[in-house]
Amino acid sequence: MTNSERLKKYFGERKNTLVFGLISQVVVFIFFFFLVKGFVLPSGGEAHAKEILAASIPFVSLGILLKIAFDKSDIPFLLLLILITPLFVAGPSFFTFVLPLICLATGYAIAFSVKDRTQLTWVAILGAFSQIIINPTVWYMAYGEENLGKIFFSSLFLIVTGPGLLGILVYIGEEIFGLPTELKLMDICSEANPLLRTLRNAAPGTFYHSVNTAFIAEEGAMAIGANRLLCRAGGLYHDIGKMWKPEYYSENQFGEENVHDQISKDVSRLIIISHIEEGIKLAEKHGLGKSIEEIIRRHHGNAPLYYYDPRIRRELDRYPGPLPGSKEEGIVMLSDSIEATARSLTEMSEGELKKVVRFVIGRGVKDGQTAGVGFSERDLRILEEAFIKSLKIIYHNRIFYPSQDGMLLRGSDEAGLFEKLPPAPEAEDEAAEKDGERGPGGFEYH
Ligand SMILES: [Fe+2]
Ligand SMILES: [Fe+2]
Repeated sequence: MTNSERLKKYFGERKNTLVFGLISQVVVFIFFFFLVKGFVLPSGGEAHAKEILAASIPFVSLGILLKIAFDKSDIPFLLLLILITPLFVAGPSFFTFVLPLICLATGYAIAFSVKDRTQLTWVAILGAFSQIIINPTVWYMAYGEENLGKIFFSSLFLIVTGPGLLGILVYIGEEIFGLPTELKLMDICSEANPLLRTLRNAAPGTFYHSVNTAFIAEEGAMAIGANRLLCRAGGLYHDIGKMWKPEYYSENQFGEENVHDQISKDVSRLIIISHIEEGIKLAEKHGLGKSIEEIIRRHHGNAPLYYYDPRIRRELDRYPGPLPGSKEEGIVMLSDSIEATARSLTEMSEGELKKVVRFVIGRGVKDGQTAGVGFSERDLRILEEAFIKSLKIIYHNRIFYPSQDGMLLRGSDEAGLFEKLPPAPEAEDEAAEKDGERGPGGFEYH
């Protein structure tokens, strides 16, 4: 990929985020010119008048916004955008450069504690008070006591304008641009979320598959520096469309009669594929946001669709796509497939889990499913490790480890009383695994 292609991809993926960043600055400009200039400094003739006005911009609130609404990779661009504002409006000086930097860092730091919207309100108020202290302090460092009272007085407006501006921008970001703010993602990841609770009751198998997928995806995201909350939320909701006809999906069947035996293969295929469209509709209806809708839309890419009947192991059709286009979408796709594959293993050994992860990643790359994601070789290596680690955590109680005398020991016996079991049979179907029709150990495709 050339540099210009990389840049195009970067801006293409982040179109909404960056437009929102620009809009935020427009809001700040409007605020600066019409609101503050009108009320704080009507005469405008004082020395450093423009710098006093610049200090009225709620930079701490913008710092909070950077943390809760944007991905880390967007921050350099947005930081530049925010830092330019006071320099452009009030001219370059120690004050107009240092003040925003300190305020943004303060806002970013205090936003780490935000876990819900109530906390955001408190943090926004705390942020406003911080800037009321920071403004005169930096001013004193720049200009001494001159106009110190004025700067303090104008800063008092921040008690209202700081939380107000933050509220407006969070609303615009979430509702108009569909940005997956941390708050939004935390809301939808909450166990109390009604849609998630409905999934749990309607399709318990899908619910547990989704919880595991979310865990695997989040670990993968953390390992390569992708958006962990988005991956977690994407994992939780990727199969939400299965609520429509839960009994048609293997994870909800619990050994009961296979409903696919009663219908034609074409109807089977339509029902299986329909969980994507149904999922998108539910996501729209419940306002999960554009990023989650995209994860649902792309979580199977155009991977081969194997008819439900496990006797048929041929590729008969493919999912309609599109392919994942971001790291988060790629991570959820791989995690989904890894979880579904690992769950169907009859023998849960560490070696089999490693095989599953390598097989799924290798198949995804070979089939071109991750081509639009831009995973580097290094990303894939790190993801592989993270996925194996998370599978070992999920299946801790079911994993068998070889002992020194060749017996297999079941993992995680907390009392240390390992159950001794006969050695596991060799993987049943190495030949089929090689020709790509079956994965290691003869597991089901997802
Ligand atoms: Fe799915
Ligand atoms: Fe799934």
